[in-house]
Amino acid sequence: MLRSLVVLVCVVSALAGQSPNAAFVEELVELYNDGRFSDNLQEDASLDVPELVRKYGYPLEEHTVETSDGYILTMHRIPHGREASNDTGQKPVVFMMHGLLSSSADYVLMGPGSGLAPVAFMANNRNLLLNALAPFARSLSRLANLIGIGEFMPNRLIYTWAGQALCKDEALFQPICSSILFLIAGWNEKQHNATMLPVIFGHTPAGASVRQFAHYGQGISGNKFRRFDHGMAKNLRMYGRISAPDYDLRKITTPVFLHYSTNDPLAHVNDVDKLWSELKNPVGKFKVQENTFSHLDFMYGIDARALVYNRVISFLRVMDSLEV
Ligand SMILES: *[C@@H]1O[C@H](CO)[C@@H](O)[C@H](O)[C@H]1NC(C)=O
Ligand SMILES: *[C@@H]1O[C@H](CO)[C@@H](O)[C@H](O)[C@H]1NC(C)=O
Repeated sequence: MLRSLVVLVCVVSALAGQSPNAAFVEELVELYNDGRFSDNLQEDASLDVPELVRKYGYPLEEHTVETSDGYILTMHRIPHGREASNDTGQKPVVFMMHGLLSSSADYVLMGPGSGLAPVAFMANNRNLLLNALAPFARSLSRLANLIGIGEFMPNRLIYTWAGQALCKDEALFQPICSSILFLIAGWNEKQHNATMLPVIFGHTPAGASVRQFAHYGQGISGNKFRRFDHGMAKNLRMYGRISAPDYDLRKITTPVFLHYSTNDPLAHVNDVDKLWSELKNPVGKFKVQENTFSHLDFMYGIDARALVYNRVISFLRVMDSLEV
């Protein structure tokens, strides 16, 4: 389950004490708001997440987790703040899952984020390329297996180099870099800070398995949120039935808050509504108050803090104080 695109927005486990993370989260937000931007973008483009976090004076832990099906995942944790809030005692966990082709870098590149995972239903996905490829998802993944490609768009030095050389301010190519991002994940110049492109391309795309893409495609073409469709024969062996079983969203009893926008080509409002109606314990559904707000703006948007994070953080505080 860890490996799949989990629909949880944020999992808050309030284990200890009274709102222990609040001060730290606040500090993190403050840091990235005022002194938000880096002094050296070219450097930030080539630092990995632990280096980035440490560069800005935060402690960092790395943990590895082995999934039940044998994958070894690395997780990054910032256990406490820098100064006023560097109480090093036990703190609760805020789990943030990144999206397809992303990594934990998304949450430190521009500022603090919130685990805004993709919605589960994708029939209304408006990305033309994805829609065109979706019906062929399984054959594409078979083909990729045959020719020995297991990973799609791994993070390569070439992206970092291209980001630094071609996408920086005053580079002639910069508008094309912006367009590439827009074409993939929605157009919104209002929230786009082109100056940050070198840092973004230094960390994104971060790679995904070919099968994850195939699974994503199946979600679009089948309009079902279900396990991987291996084809009838193998489904029968794996699941004891010829079609892949649906994920049972009623089993998600965690209180869920959904944050969405009307201009996100990868998370259509109808799909958000459908997800909302099938969850067991949905608490709130919040539309971003800017009509042009798009997919990547949840991470890289200039006003993401004001439009999204502040609300997410206040809900975290409330849930934390309720100790649910
Ligand atoms: C865009 O990013 C640069 C570099 O980090 C920063 O100096 C600038 O203030 C940002 N622009 C906006 C509109 O936020
Ligand atoms: C935070 O940690 C630093 C060094 O680790 C220490 O000098 C400082 O007094 C601490 N601040 C608080 C408020 O505990």
